[in-house]
This record gives sequence, structure tokens and C-alpha cells, in this order.
Amino acid sequence: MSQKIKRLGILTGGGDCPGLNAVIRAVAKTALYRYEIEVVGIMDGYGGVIENRSMILEDHHVSGILHRGGTILGTTNRDNPFRYPVGEKNGQTVWGDVSDKAIANLEKMGVDVLVAVGGDGSLFIGNELYKKGVPVVGIPKTIDNDLSATDVTFGFDTALNTATDAIDKLHTTAESHHRVMILEVMGRDAGWIALHSGTAGGADVILIPEINFSYEAICKKISERQQKGKKFSIMVVAEGAKLPGGEQIYQEERKDNPHLSKLGGVGNVIGDEIQRRCGVETRVTVLGHLQRGGTPTPFDRILGTRFGVKAAELAMNGEFGQMTCLCSGEIQSVPLSDAVKEQKLIQADSELVRAAKSVGVSFGD
Ligand code: F6P
Repeated sequence: MSQKIKRLGILTGGGDCPGLNAVIRAVAKTALYRYEIEVVGIMDGYGGVIENRSMILEDHHVSGILHRGGTILGTTNRDNPFRYPVGEKNGQTVWGDVSDKAIANLEKMGVDVLVAVGGDGSLFIGNELYKKGVPVVGIPKTIDNDLSATDVTFGFDTALNTATDAIDKLHTTAESHHRVMILEVMGRDAGWIALHSGTAGGADVILIPEINFSYEAICKKISERQQKGKKFSIMVVAEGAKLPGGEQIYQEERKDNPHLSKLGGVGNVIGDEIQRRCGVETRVTVLGHLQRGGTPTPFDRILGTRFGVKAAELAMNGEFGQMTCLCSGEIQSVPLSDAVKEQKLIQADSELVRAAKSVGVSFGD
């Protein structure tokens, strides 16, 4: 691929999150006006690369999108050029490596550098393409906030606001009916949304995948509250929380392709058990994709803008194989290979967990 950048390509991959359009706008405006190069938007993540679907992005495409959730480019969390369905044999999908075709398509699109906006899966693919010679710059996104190389990902703040708002609403009805109200939130194997929203919303119990819980500890907390005259309790449960036996609950488990497995339903399992053991009427709300939609918060718009500008700069300076990150408040970059090395999980003795415990939150441990 040419090292003289005349055209920059951008794609959004994996699950969407609020703030993606702020990133697309920032990358495109910086490329169009500061560097005076062309921008091509690739449709539906790596799906568009494999199937050669793209469009030239002009000013009117990226104007008026800053406040909009979702992504104007579309996205998918299925299409991996290194493991793509290429046929069927004996009723089984046959997977193949179509990365050479993907690279050839990027060349057909005239893409001299690719900005890949995604979570761990999309950034991993971006890094694999980089290793095969494609100039790639990554931007981290996910509501889960589980990427280790950045202090925070954009999308998390908006999801946190949505979850906190839900807890506030559940609080009033829990109080009226003297019930235990459980809110199940997203986050995969990390409990960031649960920990932060539970702390912000004044939850009594927060269950996260990183801390093992017992039903006895939860019932003890609920009955202690009852003894103090507090007849209701609020619980926030991360979708990846592990039951006392270590089991996670899936809506759909894909043993053949684990990253496509869908967590969900643990709130109901725990709710039934709490009602049975503590004898308190319990209701469960699964917040689901509301956390991924809607208007991005100012924080996510600003972070998305800063990441987008930095990514365009990295691309134009020839700093490929890098990912933008927020480190101690500053926008910096790290090698993509470091960015995808490990998942960022909550430490059980971290300051926020200790602070939450100090104000009476139970983690069921
Ligand atoms: O990674 C973001 C996320 O929203 C997770 O929190 C959740 O487990 C998953 O994606 C849901 O994916 P899908 O939109 O494919 O159901």
C-alpha cells in the first residue's frame, strides 16, 4: 500500500455505542480540512471491507451528526476477515481466511490508511491487518470500558448515565412497594457499568463478575436493612456476574464461536433465588440495549472528538499500528498490540470498591 496518504478510510466495528458519530465527524473533518485529503467511509465494519462496500464522505455526510447515537457507517460484530464463513459441509459452517481479499478491497477503495474504531475484537482484527502490512490506526470504543490500554472508552459514560437513571426510577417504585428491585446491566465479563451506576445510584447490593457472591451475604444485607426499617433494597447485577457455582448465564451460548455468545438472564436467576430465600417480593429489570442507544453525553462527544482528531494525526504522521488512548487525562497513543493484550477488569480491592463498601454497599462477598 502507498505510504503517501491521499485517502483515509474509516470503519466502525463491533457493537455500536454512543459517540461513534462524534469520532467519524472528527476524523473526517480533520482529514478534509486540516490535511485536505479524501475520506472513504466503509460500511458495516469489516463486512464492508470483505464485500467492498464504501462511500466517499463529504462535509454534508458528517455535519449534524455529533449529537446522534449509533454510527452513520453501520457496524457488525460478526464479520472477521481471518475467520469468515466460506461455505457449509455436513450442515456445519466452514470458516476461512479472506484477509487477502479484504486487503485487495481496501486497495480498490484507494484507502492509504485505515482508521478502525472498535472494541477488543475489531482492534484485534485491525492489528492482524497491520501485521499483514495494512497501515492501521485504532480508536477504542465500547460501553463496557474493558480495554486495558485506555483509562476510559467513549460510550461508557452515556451507558452509565442511562443505567443510573434507571436505578433512580426503580428506587421510587421499590420504596412504594417494599420490594427488592434488581437491575441487570451490560458489560460482558467486566463489571464497570454495574460498579459505577450502582455507586452513583445508591444501590444496596452490586454484583460483578470480578467478585464472587453468596446468597447468604445478599440476604443478610436485605434483612439488615429491614431491621433498620428500610423495607426495600436495590440491587445492580452485571450480566457477567457468576453464580455461586461459578456459572455465567447466557441468552445464547455459542461453543463454536464463543465471542458470539450472548450473556443475559442472570438477574432473573438471582431474583428468583432472593425471593425464595429472603421471602421478599422481587422484581427484575433487564436494561439491555437501551444502554447502547441514545444521545451521547458531552463527555463521550468530547472524548470521541479528541480520539478522532488524534487518530487523523497519527495516520498523517505515518504512526501506524497505534491506538489512541486517554492516559491520566491526556490523549496519547499505544501500540495496537498492547491495546488488545488484556481485558481491563475491576480489582476487588480497588479504591471505588472500597469506597462503595465504606458507604454500606454489599458485593455479596
Ligand atoms: O460489548 C458491548 C455489549 O453491549 C455488551 O455489553 C453486551 O454483552 C453485548 O455487547 C451485546 O451484544 P449484542 O448487541 O450482539 O447483543
